[in-house]
Amino acid sequence: MTATTPDERTSSDAAAATQAEVSAEIAEIAAAYAASGSTETGPRLDYAPYRSSVLRHPTKDPHHADPEGIELWSPVFGHRDVDPLEADLTIAHRGEPVGERMVVTGRVLDGAGRPVRHQLVEIWQANAGGRYIHKRDQHPAAIDPNFTGVGRCLTGADGRYRFTTIKPGPYPWKNHRNAWRPAHIHFSVFGTEFTQRMITQMYFPHDPLFALDPIYQAIPDPAARERLVAAYDHDLTTPEWATGYRWDIVLTGTHRTPTEQEDDQ
Ligand SMILES: [Fe+2]
Repeated sequence: MTATTPDERTSSDAAAATQAEVSAEIAEIAAAYAASGSTETGPRLDYAPYRSSVLRHPTKDPHHADPEGIELWSPVFGHRDVDPLEADLTIAHRGEPVGERMVVTGRVLDGAGRPVRHQLVEIWQANAGGRYIHKRDQHPAAIDPNFTGVGRCLTGADGRYRFTTIKPGPYPWKNHRNAWRPAHIHFSVFGTEFTQRMITQMYFPHDPLFALDPIYQAIPDPAARERLVAAYDHDLTTPEWATGYRWDIVLTGTHRTPTEQEDDQ
């Protein structure tokens, strides 16, 4: 067995597209979208700049199953199974996690603006250094022993969820050479039945990586993708304690929050 050179070790990356090439593809699709007059607002499943979506996205209409039949076999949870302390991702370990403590809150609403009550909202995220505790995340950023990055809560009578957590960092991924995801928090809203679960990502304002990111840009409508960006709220920011962000999730209607496939990065 011969030793590999650094170039050989990175050969799969070296063969990949550059950011400039991916950005040119993103710009071309955005221009075609703008010229088309399309009203699509969701993420495209077949979006070539997001390389791994090209071969794995559904090509056929999903099999339509009987929702009531699925419910007979699906996981269930009771409202008493969710401890209120699970909404604070900063207290799961003995010490304080590293990073910028923040509160993220908002409401889950239907298309008419009505609160969606008692919904299970789950989040998962990288730590302040952009590192997940996951075997597929091996990039050289520190694991924080005081931060796991998962939390959940139930919405209240007004549809509100609220988490205390750490602002996640951006992280590299293998889509193309020097690809970095904008900082984000993954959200799952369970619905009242297993078949209603939806998954999306929340971003932070003014992230310089937005324009470069094929996952964010896979939503061709600029107004729709901006609905994934939280708003900084100084009234929510707590002195000497935490910054505050607000982000509502709208399940239906013209202002619907774009949702995605379950295995997105
Ligand atoms: Fe992620």
